[in-house]
Amino acid sequence: MATSWVNSAERIGSDLHLELTGPGGRRAALIRALREAVRSGRLAPGARLPPYRSLAADLGVARNTVADAYAELVAEGWLTARQGSGTRVAERAEPLRPAAREPRKAPPRARGPRHDLTQGTPDASSFPRTAWLASYRRALQQAPNEVFGPGDPAGRIELREALTEYLARARGVRTEPGRIVICSGFAHALRLLFGGGVLRGPLAVEAYGLGFHREVLTAAGVRTVPLPLDEHGARVDRLGRERAVLLTPAHQFPTGGPLHAARRAAVIDWARARGGLVLEDDYDGEFRYDRKPVGAVQGLDPERVVHIGSVSKSLSPAVRLGWMVLPERYVDAVLAAKGDREAWASVLDQLSLADFVVSGAYDRHVRRMRQRYRGRRDRLVAALAEHAPHIEATGVAAGLHAVLRLPPGTEASAVKAAAWQGIALDGLAAFRHPDTDMAAGDGLVVGYATPSEHAYGPALEALCRALPPP
Ligand SMILES: Cc1ncc(COP(=O)(O)O)c(C=O)c1O
Repeated sequence: MATSWVNSAERIGSDLHLELTGPGGRRAALIRALREAVRSGRLAPGARLPPYRSLAADLGVARNTVADAYAELVAEGWLTARQGSGTRVAERAEPLRPAAREPRKAPPRARGPRHDLTQGTPDASSFPRTAWLASYRRALQQAPNEVFGPGDPAGRIELREALTEYLARARGVRTEPGRIVICSGFAHALRLLFGGGVLRGPLAVEAYGLGFHREVLTAAGVRTVPLPLDEHGARVDRLGRERAVLLTPAHQFPTGGPLHAARRAAVIDWARARGGLVLEDDYDGEFRYDRKPVGAVQGLDPERVVHIGSVSKSLSPAVRLGWMVLPERYVDAVLAAKGDREAWASVLDQLSLADFVVSGAYDRHVRRMRQRYRGRRDRLVAALAEHAPHIEATGVAAGLHAVLRLPPGTEASAVKAAAWQGIALDGLAAFRHPDTDMAAGDGLVVGYATPSEHAYGPALEALCRALPPP
Protein backbone atom coordinates (compact mmCIF):
# COMPACT_ATOMS: atom_id res chain seq x y z
CA MET A 1 0.00 0.00 0.00
CA ALA A 2 1.35 3.44 -0.86
CA THR A 3 0.05 6.54 0.84
CA SER A 4 1.24 9.96 -0.11
CA TRP A 5 0.61 13.64 0.20
CA VAL A 6 1.28 15.03 -3.23
CA ASN A 7 2.90 18.41 -2.81
CA SER A 8 2.00 19.87 -6.16
CA ALA A 9 0.24 22.83 -4.63
CA GLU A 10 0.80 25.12 -7.61
CA ARG A 11 -1.23 22.77 -9.73
CA ILE A 12 -4.05 21.52 -7.57
CA GLY A 13 -4.32 24.35 -5.06
CA SER A 14 -3.50 22.21 -2.03
CA ASP A 15 -1.85 18.96 -1.02
CA LEU A 16 -3.61 15.92 -2.40
CA HIS A 17 -3.76 12.81 -0.29
CA LEU A 18 -3.93 9.60 -2.28
CA GLU A 19 -4.12 6.17 -0.75
CA LEU A 20 -3.29 3.29 -3.02
CA THR A 21 -5.23 0.48 -1.42
CA GLY A 22 -7.45 -2.40 -2.46
CA PRO A 23 -7.22 -5.16 -5.03
CA GLY A 24 -5.86 -5.12 -8.57
CA GLY A 25 -2.39 -3.65 -8.28
CA ARG A 26 -1.13 -0.08 -8.16
CA ARG A 27 -2.57 1.11 -11.44
CA ALA A 28 -6.09 0.09 -10.39
CA ALA A 29 -5.57 1.56 -6.92
CA LEU A 30 -4.39 4.88 -8.36
CA ILE A 31 -7.38 5.03 -10.72
CA ARG A 32 -9.72 4.43 -7.77
CA ALA A 33 -7.98 7.03 -5.62
CA LEU A 34 -8.08 9.70 -8.33
CA ARG A 35 -11.72 8.96 -9.15
CA GLU A 36 -12.58 9.30 -5.48
CA ALA A 37 -10.69 12.61 -5.23
CA VAL A 38 -12.69 14.01 -8.17
CA ARG A 39 -15.98 12.63 -6.91
CA SER A 40 -15.54 14.09 -3.44
CA GLY A 41 -14.58 17.48 -4.85
CA ARG A 42 -11.04 17.37 -3.46
CA LEU A 43 -9.91 17.68 -7.06
CA ALA A 44 -12.06 20.48 -8.45
CA PRO A 45 -13.21 20.69 -12.06
CA GLY A 46 -10.48 22.25 -14.16
CA ALA A 47 -7.72 21.48 -11.62
CA ARG A 48 -4.44 20.53 -13.25
CA LEU A 49 -2.94 17.23 -12.20
CA PRO A 50 0.74 16.78 -11.44
CA PRO A 51 2.96 15.57 -14.29
CA TYR A 52 3.53 11.82 -14.45
CA ARG A 53 7.04 12.12 -13.17
CA SER A 54 6.32 14.05 -9.97
CA LEU A 55 3.22 12.04 -9.03
CA ALA A 56 5.14 8.82 -9.67
CA ALA A 57 7.98 10.05 -7.46
CA ASP A 58 5.58 11.15 -4.69
CA LEU A 59 3.78 7.82 -4.70
CA GLY A 60 6.80 5.63 -5.30
CA VAL A 61 5.30 4.02 -8.40
CA ALA A 62 6.52 3.72 -11.98
CA ARG A 63 5.91 6.58 -14.37
CA ASN A 64 4.01 4.28 -16.71
CA THR A 65 1.61 3.40 -13.92
CA VAL A 66 0.62 7.05 -13.60
CA ALA A 67 0.45 7.52 -17.38
CA ASP A 68 -1.82 4.47 -17.70
CA ALA A 69 -4.05 5.64 -14.86
CA TYR A 70 -4.44 9.12 -16.39
CA ALA A 71 -5.18 7.58 -19.81
CA GLU A 72 -7.86 5.34 -18.33
CA LEU A 73 -9.52 8.26 -16.53
CA VAL A 74 -9.39 10.38 -19.69
CA ALA A 75 -11.13 7.55 -21.53
CA GLU A 76 -13.78 7.39 -18.80
CA GLY A 77 -14.35 11.14 -19.00
CA TRP A 78 -13.04 12.05 -15.53
CA LEU A 79 -9.96 13.81 -16.88
CA THR A 80 -9.08 15.67 -20.03
CA ALA A 81 -5.66 15.81 -21.66
CA ARG A 82 -4.73 18.57 -24.03
CA GLN A 83 -1.44 19.35 -25.68
CA GLY A 84 0.24 22.16 -23.81
CA SER A 85 -2.12 22.35 -20.83
CA GLY A 86 -1.45 18.96 -19.29
CA THR A 87 -4.00 16.70 -17.69
CA ARG A 88 -6.93 18.35 -15.93
CA VAL A 89 -10.08 17.32 -14.14
CA ALA A 90 -12.96 17.37 -16.63
CA GLU A 91 -15.35 20.28 -16.18
CA ARG A 92 -18.43 18.06 -16.11
CA ALA A 93 -17.16 15.45 -13.64
CA GLU A 94 -19.91 15.24 -11.03
CA PRO A 95 -18.66 15.85 -7.45
CA LEU A 96 -20.46 14.54 -4.44
CA ARG A 97 -21.75 17.03 -1.91
CA PRO A 98 -19.05 17.32 0.74
CA ALA A 99 -19.59 14.70 3.40
CA ALA A 100 -20.43 17.37 5.97
CA ARG A 101 -24.19 17.42 5.73
CA GLU A 102 -24.60 16.84 9.45
CA PRO A 103 -22.19 19.43 10.77
CA ARG A 104 -22.87 18.93 14.48
CA LYS A 105 -22.42 15.17 14.39
CA ALA A 106 -19.42 14.81 12.14
CA PRO A 107 -16.06 14.99 13.88
CA PRO A 108 -13.74 17.61 12.42
CA ARG A 109 -12.40 16.29 9.14
CA ALA A 110 -8.68 15.96 8.62
CA ARG A 111 -9.29 16.19 4.88
CA GLY A 112 -12.27 17.43 2.96
CA PRO A 113 -13.57 20.59 1.34
CA ARG A 114 -11.00 23.31 0.86
CA HIS A 115 -13.17 26.04 2.36
CA ASP A 116 -15.10 25.33 5.53
CA LEU A 117 -17.99 27.77 5.83
CA THR A 118 -20.21 25.50 7.88
CA GLN A 119 -21.67 27.30 10.85
CA GLY A 120 -20.92 26.31 14.38
CA THR A 121 -17.22 26.56 15.02
CA PRO A 122 -15.19 29.52 16.22
CA ASP A 123 -11.86 30.31 14.58
CA ALA A 124 -9.79 27.46 15.96
CA SER A 125 -6.55 29.30 15.26
CA SER A 126 -7.61 32.02 17.72
CA PHE A 127 -7.91 29.81 20.77
CA PRO A 128 -6.18 31.78 23.54
CA ARG A 129 -3.55 29.13 24.20
CA THR A 130 -1.21 31.27 26.30
CA ALA A 131 -3.87 32.79 28.52
CA TRP A 132 -5.65 29.45 28.96
CA LEU A 133 -2.38 27.80 29.89
CA ALA A 134 -1.68 30.55 32.44
CA SER A 135 -5.12 30.02 33.97
CA TYR A 136 -4.64 26.27 34.01
CA ARG A 137 -1.26 26.62 35.69
CA ARG A 138 -2.58 29.00 38.34
CA ALA A 139 -5.62 26.77 38.94
CA LEU A 140 -3.43 23.74 39.38
CA GLN A 141 -0.97 25.51 41.65
CA GLN A 142 -3.69 26.86 43.92
CA ALA A 143 -5.97 23.82 43.96
CA PRO A 144 -6.41 22.20 47.37
CA ASN A 145 -5.93 18.41 47.45
CA GLU A 146 -9.65 17.73 47.60
CA VAL A 147 -9.90 18.96 43.99
CA PHE A 148 -8.29 15.69 42.92
CA GLY A 149 -11.03 13.61 44.47
CA PRO A 150 -14.55 13.09 43.10
CA GLY A 151 -16.16 16.35 41.98
CA ASP A 152 -19.33 18.06 43.20
CA PRO A 153 -22.04 17.43 40.54
CA ALA A 154 -23.14 21.07 40.84
CA GLY A 155 -19.71 22.12 39.62
CA ARG A 156 -16.85 23.86 41.38
CA ILE A 157 -17.99 26.74 43.54
CA GLU A 158 -15.17 28.91 42.15
CA LEU A 159 -16.67 28.60 38.66
CA ARG A 160 -20.24 29.08 39.79
CA GLU A 161 -19.25 32.25 41.63
CA ALA A 162 -17.31 33.55 38.65
CA LEU A 163 -20.25 32.85 36.34
CA THR A 164 -22.73 34.49 38.70
CA GLU A 165 -20.79 37.74 38.45
CA TYR A 166 -19.98 37.43 34.75
CA LEU A 167 -23.47 36.49 33.57
CA ALA A 168 -25.04 39.31 35.59
CA ARG A 169 -22.62 41.85 34.14
CA ALA A 170 -22.46 40.64 30.54
CA ARG A 171 -25.87 39.05 29.98
CA GLY A 172 -28.20 40.50 32.61
CA VAL A 173 -28.76 37.10 34.22
CA ARG A 174 -30.06 37.22 37.80
CA THR A 175 -28.80 34.31 39.82
CA GLU A 176 -26.63 33.02 42.64
CA PRO A 177 -24.07 30.19 42.68
CA GLY A 178 -26.56 27.77 44.26
CA ARG A 179 -28.76 27.91 41.18
CA ILE A 180 -26.03 27.20 38.67
CA VAL A 181 -25.24 23.64 37.62
CA ILE A 182 -22.17 23.07 35.48
CA CYS A 183 -22.45 20.69 32.55
CA SER A 184 -20.45 19.86 29.47
CA GLY A 185 -22.39 22.12 27.10
CA PHE A 186 -25.82 22.81 25.71
CA ALA A 187 -26.47 19.32 24.37
CA HIS A 188 -25.58 17.87 27.75
CA ALA A 189 -27.98 20.28 29.43
CA LEU A 190 -30.78 18.99 27.17
CA ARG A 191 -29.86 15.39 28.01
CA LEU A 192 -29.89 16.12 31.74
CA LEU A 193 -33.17 18.02 31.66
CA PHE A 194 -35.10 15.59 29.47
CA GLY A 195 -33.18 12.30 29.57
CA GLY A 196 -32.71 12.74 33.31
CA GLY A 197 -36.45 12.96 33.96
CA VAL A 198 -36.44 16.59 35.18
CA LEU A 199 -38.75 17.81 32.40
CA ARG A 200 -41.12 16.12 30.01
CA GLY A 201 -42.39 16.98 26.57
CA PRO A 202 -44.01 18.05 24.45
CA LEU A 203 -41.51 20.82 23.94
CA ALA A 204 -42.08 23.73 21.57
CA VAL A 205 -39.03 24.56 19.47
CA GLU A 206 -38.32 27.08 16.74
CA ALA A 207 -39.32 25.83 13.29
CA TYR A 208 -35.71 26.29 12.19
CA GLY A 209 -32.97 25.09 14.51
CA LEU A 210 -30.15 22.65 14.97
CA GLY A 211 -31.20 19.15 13.89
CA PHE A 212 -28.72 17.67 16.31
CA HIS A 213 -30.60 19.16 19.25
CA ARG A 214 -33.88 17.80 17.93
CA GLU A 215 -32.24 14.39 17.70
CA VAL A 216 -31.06 14.62 21.32
CA LEU A 217 -34.61 15.40 22.36
CA THR A 218 -36.13 12.66 20.25
CA ALA A 219 -33.66 10.18 21.74
CA ALA A 220 -34.88 11.27 25.18
CA GLY A 221 -38.46 10.48 24.09
CA VAL A 222 -39.50 14.12 23.76
CA ARG A 223 -41.90 15.23 21.03
CA THR A 224 -40.91 18.61 19.62
CA VAL A 225 -43.57 20.95 18.25
CA PRO A 226 -42.36 23.57 15.74
CA LEU A 227 -43.20 27.22 16.36
CA PRO A 228 -43.24 29.31 13.17
CA LEU A 229 -40.91 32.28 12.85
CA ASP A 230 -41.52 35.72 11.41
CA GLU A 231 -39.55 38.97 11.30
CA HIS A 232 -39.97 39.35 15.09
CA GLY A 233 -38.73 35.86 15.90
CA ALA A 234 -40.65 32.86 17.19
CA ARG A 235 -44.44 33.12 17.17
CA VAL A 236 -44.81 32.57 20.90
CA ASP A 237 -48.49 33.50 20.57
CA ARG A 238 -48.88 30.03 19.02
CA LEU A 239 -47.79 28.30 22.22
CA GLY A 240 -50.45 25.97 23.47
CA ARG A 241 -50.35 23.01 25.78
CA GLU A 242 -46.60 22.45 25.59
CA ARG A 243 -44.87 22.28 28.95
CA ALA A 244 -41.82 24.20 27.85
CA VAL A 245 -40.40 26.15 24.93
CA LEU A 246 -36.82 26.20 23.68
CA LEU A 247 -35.74 29.51 22.17
CA THR A 248 -32.61 31.27 20.91
CA PRO A 249 -33.79 34.78 21.89
CA ALA A 250 -30.58 36.79 21.45
CA HIS A 251 -29.97 35.60 17.90
CA GLN A 252 -32.38 33.12 16.37
CA PHE A 253 -30.50 30.11 15.14
CA PRO A 254 -30.06 29.99 12.20
CA THR A 255 -32.19 32.78 10.67
CA GLY A 256 -30.43 35.48 12.69
CA GLY A 257 -32.99 37.87 14.21
CA PRO A 258 -33.44 38.68 17.90
CA LEU A 259 -36.72 37.88 19.62
CA HIS A 260 -38.75 41.10 19.65
CA ALA A 261 -39.19 42.79 23.05
CA ALA A 262 -42.97 42.25 22.94
CA ARG A 263 -42.42 38.52 22.29
CA ARG A 264 -39.91 38.28 25.14
CA ALA A 265 -42.55 39.68 27.46
CA ALA A 266 -45.26 37.50 25.91
CA VAL A 267 -43.37 34.26 26.44
CA ILE A 268 -42.87 35.08 30.11
CA ASP A 269 -46.60 35.83 30.39
CA TRP A 270 -47.34 32.44 28.80
CA ALA A 271 -45.00 30.68 31.24
CA ARG A 272 -46.62 32.40 34.22
CA ALA A 273 -50.16 31.73 33.05
CA ARG A 274 -49.60 28.08 32.05
CA GLY A 275 -46.95 27.03 34.54
CA GLY A 276 -44.63 26.64 31.56
CA LEU A 277 -40.90 26.94 31.34
CA VAL A 278 -38.67 28.83 28.89
CA LEU A 279 -35.36 27.21 27.93
CA GLU A 280 -33.05 29.96 26.76
CA ASP A 281 -30.21 28.83 24.49
CA ASP A 282 -27.76 31.73 24.79
CA TYR A 283 -25.25 30.15 22.43
CA ASP A 284 -23.66 33.34 21.04
CA GLY A 285 -25.15 36.15 23.14
CA GLU A 286 -21.76 37.82 23.65
CA PHE A 287 -21.22 38.39 19.96
CA ARG A 288 -23.36 41.32 18.95
CA TYR A 289 -21.67 43.89 16.72
CA ASP A 290 -24.11 46.68 16.03
CA ARG A 291 -25.05 47.77 19.52
CA LYS A 292 -25.16 46.53 23.08
CA PRO A 293 -25.99 42.84 23.36
CA VAL A 294 -29.62 42.11 24.14
CA GLY A 295 -29.84 40.90 27.71
CA ALA A 296 -30.97 37.42 28.59
CA VAL A 297 -34.70 36.67 28.80
CA GLN A 298 -33.87 35.00 32.12
CA GLY A 299 -33.51 38.48 33.65
CA LEU A 300 -37.26 39.02 33.15
CA ASP A 301 -38.23 36.14 35.43
CA PRO A 302 -35.55 33.83 36.87
CA GLU A 303 -38.23 31.43 38.14
CA ARG A 304 -39.64 30.80 34.66
CA VAL A 305 -36.47 30.49 32.59
CA VAL A 306 -33.62 28.00 32.41
CA HIS A 307 -30.73 29.96 30.96
CA ILE A 308 -28.17 27.74 29.23
CA GLY A 309 -24.76 28.79 27.97
CA SER A 310 -21.47 27.24 27.03
CA VAL A 311 -18.00 28.20 25.88
CA SER A 312 -18.45 26.41 22.56
CA LYS A 313 -18.73 29.64 20.55
CA SER A 314 -16.75 31.98 22.78
CA LEU A 315 -13.73 29.72 23.31
CA SER A 316 -13.96 26.33 21.68
CA PRO A 317 -16.35 23.38 21.48
CA ALA A 318 -13.36 21.23 22.48
CA VAL A 319 -13.41 22.58 26.06
CA ARG A 320 -16.82 20.98 26.76
CA LEU A 321 -18.00 23.28 29.52
CA GLY A 322 -21.41 24.84 29.91
CA TRP A 323 -23.83 25.98 32.56
CA MET A 324 -27.49 25.89 33.45
CA VAL A 325 -28.95 28.75 35.46
CA LEU A 326 -32.02 27.19 37.03
CA PRO A 327 -35.20 28.26 38.77
CA GLU A 328 -34.81 27.21 42.36
CA ARG A 329 -37.42 24.46 42.16
CA TYR A 330 -35.43 22.52 39.54
CA VAL A 331 -32.00 22.54 41.19
CA ASP A 332 -32.39 19.34 43.21
CA ALA A 333 -33.87 17.39 40.33
CA VAL A 334 -31.05 18.42 37.99
CA LEU A 335 -28.46 17.49 40.60
CA ALA A 336 -30.15 14.11 41.02
CA ALA A 337 -29.97 13.64 37.24
CA LYS A 338 -26.25 14.34 37.38
CA GLY A 339 -25.63 11.70 40.03
CA ASP A 340 -23.44 11.61 43.12
CA ARG A 341 -20.30 12.94 41.58
CA GLU A 342 -19.19 14.92 38.56
CA ALA A 343 -18.93 12.54 35.62
CA TRP A 344 -18.73 14.90 32.62
CA ALA A 345 -17.12 18.29 33.18
CA SER A 346 -13.42 18.07 34.11
CA VAL A 347 -12.92 19.74 37.49
CA LEU A 348 -9.50 21.03 36.44
CA ASP A 349 -11.00 22.67 33.36
CA GLN A 350 -13.72 24.16 35.56
CA LEU A 351 -11.07 25.73 37.79
CA SER A 352 -9.18 27.00 34.74
CA LEU A 353 -12.32 28.59 33.37
CA ALA A 354 -13.03 30.17 36.76
CA ASP A 355 -9.55 31.71 36.75
CA PHE A 356 -9.93 32.70 33.10
CA VAL A 357 -13.13 34.60 33.90
CA VAL A 358 -11.99 36.17 37.19
CA SER A 359 -8.64 37.29 35.77
CA GLY A 360 -10.39 39.18 32.96
CA ALA A 361 -8.89 36.94 30.26
CA TYR A 362 -12.36 35.81 29.17
CA ASP A 363 -13.54 39.40 28.66
CA ARG A 364 -10.38 40.23 26.74
CA HIS A 365 -10.75 37.19 24.53
CA VAL A 366 -14.43 37.86 23.82
CA ARG A 367 -13.64 41.50 22.97
CA ARG A 368 -10.86 40.44 20.61
CA MET A 369 -13.02 37.83 18.92
CA ARG A 370 -15.93 40.25 18.66
CA GLN A 371 -13.70 42.58 16.69
CA ARG A 372 -12.40 39.77 14.52
CA TYR A 373 -15.84 38.33 13.73
CA ARG A 374 -17.25 41.77 13.10
CA GLY A 375 -14.43 42.23 10.58
CA ARG A 376 -15.28 38.89 9.00
CA ARG A 377 -18.92 39.83 8.69
CA ASP A 378 -18.04 43.22 7.21
CA ARG A 379 -15.81 41.53 4.64
CA LEU A 380 -18.61 39.14 3.71
CA VAL A 381 -21.03 42.05 3.26
CA ALA A 382 -18.45 43.98 1.21
CA ALA A 383 -17.74 40.96 -1.01
CA LEU A 384 -21.45 40.57 -1.69
CA ALA A 385 -21.82 44.27 -2.48
CA GLU A 386 -19.00 44.00 -4.99
CA HIS A 387 -19.61 40.61 -6.61
CA ALA A 388 -23.25 39.74 -5.92
CA PRO A 389 -25.17 42.92 -5.05
CA HIS A 390 -28.48 41.12 -5.62
CA ILE A 391 -27.77 38.92 -2.58
CA GLU A 392 -28.08 40.21 0.96
CA ALA A 393 -26.70 39.02 4.28
CA THR A 394 -29.71 39.11 6.61
CA GLY A 395 -30.19 38.98 10.36
CA VAL A 396 -28.61 41.27 12.93
CA ALA A 397 -24.87 41.85 12.91
CA ALA A 398 -24.12 39.23 15.51
CA GLY A 399 -22.78 35.78 16.11
CA LEU A 400 -20.58 33.60 13.99
CA HIS A 401 -22.80 33.10 10.97
CA ALA A 402 -24.97 35.01 8.50
CA VAL A 403 -27.79 33.97 6.22
CA LEU A 404 -27.47 34.94 2.57
CA ARG A 405 -30.93 35.33 1.09
CA LEU A 406 -31.24 33.76 -2.33
CA PRO A 407 -33.79 34.10 -5.11
CA PRO A 408 -36.64 31.56 -4.69
CA GLY A 409 -35.83 28.06 -5.87
CA THR A 410 -32.06 28.52 -6.03
CA GLU A 411 -30.92 27.18 -2.64
CA ALA A 412 -30.27 23.57 -3.62
CA SER A 413 -28.32 24.52 -6.72
CA ALA A 414 -26.33 27.13 -4.78
CA VAL A 415 -25.31 24.51 -2.19
CA LYS A 416 -24.27 22.26 -5.06
CA ALA A 417 -22.37 25.07 -6.78
CA ALA A 418 -20.60 25.74 -3.48
CA ALA A 419 -19.56 22.09 -3.32
CA TRP A 420 -18.14 22.46 -6.82
CA GLN A 421 -16.06 25.34 -5.53
CA GLY A 422 -14.80 23.16 -2.70
CA ILE A 423 -16.93 24.90 -0.07
CA ALA A 424 -18.69 23.12 2.77
CA LEU A 425 -21.80 24.96 3.94
CA ASP A 426 -25.51 24.36 4.44
CA GLY A 427 -28.69 25.80 3.08
CA LEU A 428 -31.52 26.90 5.37
CA ALA A 429 -33.46 23.74 4.49
CA ALA A 430 -30.94 21.68 6.48
CA PHE A 431 -32.26 23.29 9.68
CA ARG A 432 -36.00 23.03 9.05
CA HIS A 433 -38.14 21.08 11.51
CA PRO A 434 -39.64 18.14 9.62
CA ASP A 435 -43.15 18.88 10.93
CA THR A 436 -43.34 22.59 10.22
CA ASP A 437 -45.44 24.00 7.42
CA MET A 438 -43.62 27.33 7.39
CA ALA A 439 -40.84 27.99 4.91
CA ALA A 440 -38.16 30.53 5.69
CA GLY A 441 -37.32 30.94 2.00
CA ASP A 442 -34.07 30.15 0.24
CA GLY A 443 -30.77 30.95 1.90
CA LEU A 444 -27.24 29.88 2.62
CA VAL A 445 -26.03 29.70 6.21
CA VAL A 446 -22.47 30.98 6.10
CA GLY A 447 -20.24 30.32 9.10
CA TYR A 448 -17.70 33.12 8.75
CA ALA A 449 -15.79 32.33 11.92
CA THR A 450 -14.57 28.88 10.98
CA PRO A 451 -11.73 29.51 8.50
CA SER A 452 -8.45 30.71 9.88
CA GLU A 453 -7.53 34.31 9.04
CA HIS A 454 -5.41 33.49 5.98
CA ALA A 455 -8.04 31.11 4.57
CA TYR A 456 -10.97 33.50 4.81
CA GLY A 457 -10.27 35.65 1.73
CA PRO A 458 -10.02 32.65 -0.65
CA ALA A 459 -13.16 31.16 0.96
CA LEU A 460 -15.10 34.39 0.27
CA GLU A 461 -13.89 34.49 -3.34
CA ALA A 462 -15.00 30.89 -3.86
CA LEU A 463 -18.35 31.65 -2.20
CA CYS A 464 -19.03 34.59 -4.53
CA ARG A 465 -18.33 32.34 -7.51
CA ALA A 466 -20.92 29.87 -6.25
CA LEU A 467 -23.78 32.36 -5.83
CA PRO A 468 -26.63 32.34 -8.32
CA PRO A 469 -26.67 35.16 -10.91
CA PRO A 470 -29.28 37.95 -10.66
C1 LIG B 1 -27.83 26.79 18.34
C2 LIG B 1 -26.72 26.28 19.20
N1 LIG B 1 -26.95 26.13 20.50
C3 LIG B 1 -25.97 25.70 21.33
C4 LIG B 1 -24.72 25.40 20.87
C5 LIG B 1 -23.67 24.94 21.85
O1 LIG B 1 -23.67 23.57 21.93
P1 LIG B 1 -22.66 22.82 22.91
O2 LIG B 1 -22.55 23.66 24.13
O3 LIG B 1 -23.31 21.50 23.20
O4 LIG B 1 -21.36 22.68 22.20
C6 LIG B 1 -24.45 25.54 19.51
C7 LIG B 1 -23.14 25.20 18.95
O5 LIG B 1 -22.09 25.64 19.35
C8 LIG B 1 -25.47 26.00 18.66
O6 LIG B 1 -25.25 26.17 17.36
